[in-house]
Amino acid sequence: MPSGFEGTFERRRKEWTARKHRVLGQYVKVAIAKLSRLKQPIALVDGYAGANKYGDEEIGSTRIMLEQARNAIDKYGWDVRVYACEPDPETFLQLEENLRDHIQSGLLRTFNKKHSDCVSQIQQEIQGFSTVVFLDPNAPSQMTVLDDILPWAQRPVTDILGLYFGGPAARIARGALKTEGARETAKKIFDDEWQNISSQDEAFDHFFKAIERLKKYAGLYKVREIRSTRIVYGIFGLSDNHHGYWLLSDAVARDFAIIRQHDQKDTTLNMFAHDADYSDDAREFAEIKELIRQIVEKNPTLTGEDIALEVLKQKIGVEKIFGKYLGRDFTRMRNEILGKRVRNAKTD
Ligand SMILES: C[S@@+](CC[C@H](N)C(=O)[O-])C[C@H]1O[C@@H](n2cnc3c(N)ncnc32)[C@H](O)[C@@H]1O
Repeated sequence: MPSGFEGTFERRRKEWTARKHRVLGQYVKVAIAKLSRLKQPIALVDGYAGANKYGDEEIGSTRIMLEQARNAIDKYGWDVRVYACEPDPETFLQLEENLRDHIQSGLLRTFNKKHSDCVSQIQQEIQGFSTVVFLDPNAPSQMTVLDDILPWAQRPVTDILGLYFGGPAARIARGALKTEGARETAKKIFDDEWQNISSQDEAFDHFFKAIERLKKYAGLYKVREIRSTRIVYGIFGLSDNHHGYWLLSDAVARDFAIIRQHDQKDTTLNMFAHDADYSDDAREFAEIKELIRQIVEKNPTLTGEDIALEVLKQKIGVEKIFGKYLGRDFTRMRNEILGKRVRNAKTD
C-alpha cells in the first residue's frame, strides 16, 4: 500500500479521475439523448483517449463514451459511433487491447496519432453527424486553440467538452521569459500574449477569451480541490445550442457541491467545490420553474432558446438552478406554464 506523499498523490489522482469521469458520463448521456432528436447519426470523439485501464481498474473516458453509445444503440436503436486518438505507441497498444471487443464490433475507431493530426480524417468519416468532442490532455502544451479546438468549433452541431490547466499554462509562460525553447511552447498556447501571462487566473482569462467567440455558448468552470484553495483545472464547454451549455453546467454542478461565485459575465461561471456547504434543497427544481414562470408570464411568445438566454441574464439564481436541469427543455416548460398540451409542443 502506498504511503506518505505518494499515497496522498495516488488518492488525489484517483479522486480527480473519478470526478472527471462522472462529469463526462453525466454530460454525454444527456447530450446523446438531446442530439438524437435531430435524427442523424451521432459521433463521440475522445481526443485524448489514454489506455482506458488504470492498474486493475477498467475505467477511462473512451469506455464511458462506449457505454453510453452502446446503451443508446441497444435501448433506442440510435446510430452512435465512437472515435479515439492516442499518439503514444505503448498507450495506444494498451488502448487497443483494452477495448478490443468494441473495435471488432465496429463501434470504436482508434487512431495512433496526435488529436490535431486525426481531426480532418475523423471529420471526413463522420460527415454531417452530430458530434460531442472530449478534450482531456495531460498538459496545456498538448492542446491548442488553433489546432485542437478551432477545427471542431467551426463545425455545426458539435459540442466540445474539455479540460484546461491554468496553473501549468502560466508556469510555461513564466519559463518562457528565461529560455528560448520554452518560448515556442508559450507562443503556441498564448500567441504574442505570453509575456502578459504570469498567474493562473490570467491564463484562464486568456483561454476563455480565445474560446468564447468560437461558439454561441461558452462556459468555463474553475474547479479547485475539496478542502484546498488551489484551483486544479478548468472544465470548459462550447455549444451552438443552449442545451449544450446547460447540460455542461448541470453535469458540473451535480458533481460538485455548490457554485459560490458567479462572475457576472453571463457565460462564465466560476465553480468552486465546497462539500461542507452542500445543500440539495438550494437547487430545488421548483426554483428554475419559478424563475422561468416569471419570464414566460411577462412574454409568452419567447421560444425555448430565448428563455434560456433570459435565464442566463439573471445574475441571481443561476447557482440555484444548475444540478436540476437534467436535460429538460425550455419549450416544454414554457408550454407547461402556459397550460398548453405538451404533446403538441414544437420542440427547439
Ligand atoms: C489525461 S490522459 C487521458 C485520460 C483519458 N481521457 C481518461 O479520462 O481516461 C491524456 C492522454 O493524452 C495523450 N496525448 C498526449 N498528447 C496528445 C495529443 N497531442 N493528442 C492526443 N492525445 C495526446 C497522452 O498520451 C495521454 O494518454
